[in-house]
Amino acid sequence: MRHRSLRTRLVATTVLLLAIASALIGVATTIALRHFLIERLDGDVRASSRVLIRAEIGSPPTLMLPERGPRPPDTLTAIVRNGSVVTATVFPFGADPRPVPASEYRDLASLPEGRPPRSVDLGELGDYRLVASSTPLGDTVVSGLPLAPVEAIVTGLVIIELVVTGITIAGAGVAAAMVVRRELRPLERVAATAARVSVMPLDRGEVSLVERVPDADPGTEVGQVGGALNRMLDNVGSALEARHESEVQLRQFIADASHELRTPLAAISGYTELTRREELSPDVEYSLTRIASQTERMTGLVEDLLLLARLDAGRPLERGEVDLARLVVDAVADAHAAGPDHRWQLSVPDEPVVVPGDGSRLAQVLANLLANARTHTPAGTNVTVTLTAEPSGALLSVTDDGPGIAPGLLPHIFERFARGSTSRSRDNGSTGLGLAIVRAVVAAHGGSVDAASRPGRTEFTVRLPRSGA
Ligand SMILES: Nc1ncnc2c1ncn2[C@@H]1O[C@H](COP(=O)(O)OP(=O)(O)O)[C@@H](O)[C@H]1O
Ligand SMILES: [Mg+2]
Repeated sequence: MRHRSLRTRLVATTVLLLAIASALIGVATTIALRHFLIERLDGDVRASSRVLIRAEIGSPPTLMLPERGPRPPDTLTAIVRNGSVVTATVFPFGADPRPVPASEYRDLASLPEGRPPRSVDLGELGDYRLVASSTPLGDTVVSGLPLAPVEAIVTGLVIIELVVTGITIAGAGVAAAMVVRRELRPLERVAATAARVSVMPLDRGEVSLVERVPDADPGTEVGQVGGALNRMLDNVGSALEARHESEVQLRQFIADASHELRTPLAAISGYTELTRREELSPDVEYSLTRIASQTERMTGLVEDLLLLARLDAGRPLERGEVDLARLVVDAVADAHAAGPDHRWQLSVPDEPVVVPGDGSRLAQVLANLLANARTHTPAGTNVTVTLTAEPSGALLSVTDDGPGIAPGLLPHIFERFARGSTSRSRDNGSTGLGLAIVRAVVAAHGGSVDAASRPGRTEFTVRLPRSGA
């Protein structure tokens, strides 16, 4: 029962209480009525006993039974003399008197005198209320009336009670179900509101939490729940707003900072280049080379940060038709020029593979993946780039047979600043942002990117939908 719905429990409890109350009332009524009817019957039995005694006083023993006067039907009269029944007769209504069967004589003879009427089972005659009294002549007269009419009335009452109670309980059950359903509807609305909020994407971006429970009347219990839920939603809503605001501020700060850093970095590069043209000692020459390469690395980092900050801000992408086949051919040509010691293989369909998107961003995805295949693998590594057109979009994979990605790093490979710890990658301009950018750009196009790696085979798979994001 504890796991049933509140509605079921309320209705069941109502019906049960009503049934118990009806049963108590019914039993009490029936007992009281039966008691009252038997009292009245006993009165009649005593009256007929008195008539009988008077009749016997004025008559010879053979004529002692009363023939006249109104008498209730089925009155029993008997005379007991010296412990044995002399005569015993039942007087039906409108029919001839019938003798009491001799088999019941013992019951009649053993009835104690002068006691209140009592119930006696007289076999085929049924139950009787009998009273025995002594007469002045020394006999005992027994008078009685059948209990059957009383039992018939009581049975009738019980039947009526059962029928009426059954109908009442059924009606009350239906009414209770309707009332409870109506009363619980606001609770369902509270639950529905909570359910809608529970599936809202609240984890990122600007969220407007406009859902509220309509039933917030503090006068009702359900209203109190609704009101509490609404206050909680207010609280959560303002917390989300504050979070969004601080996120926006932080992003803006990173974007501004990256943007501001570009100018001094460009100046440093420029002056380094200028200075290198002078006649310099080998030491200074070396320092300047280091300055130039570190400046280049920092410029890459700043560019990547700026791009990520812009992607985070949901800056709209350029929307156009991009032929991935051409992008791939160009990107592999560039990679080949940058890494002539690697073996580059290309598998592209003859016809264009067009997806909606931002061409320069998608070119960056390719450049980042190919740069990884070039910079994180030794010379002589085979790199295969495959582009396939699929019904749902384009499938691009970049595979190399290099040493692979460390298993501990692989699950975090797309996170920001996640990178391998080899000295080689630290030196070649590694920032740890390349794959984060790949994922952000692909996600902004509604696609997905996956990495799989073991020593000798590392594969990055990019899926881009034809319908766009
Ligand atoms: N093809 C690859 N083979 C081996 N390691 C790779 C490959 N691609 C990426 N990695 C590892 O993943 C890390 C993260 O790559 P990325 O996000 O592009 O950063 P970065 O290239 O600037 O280090 C790299 O530092 C490198 O350790
Ligand atoms: Mg990289």
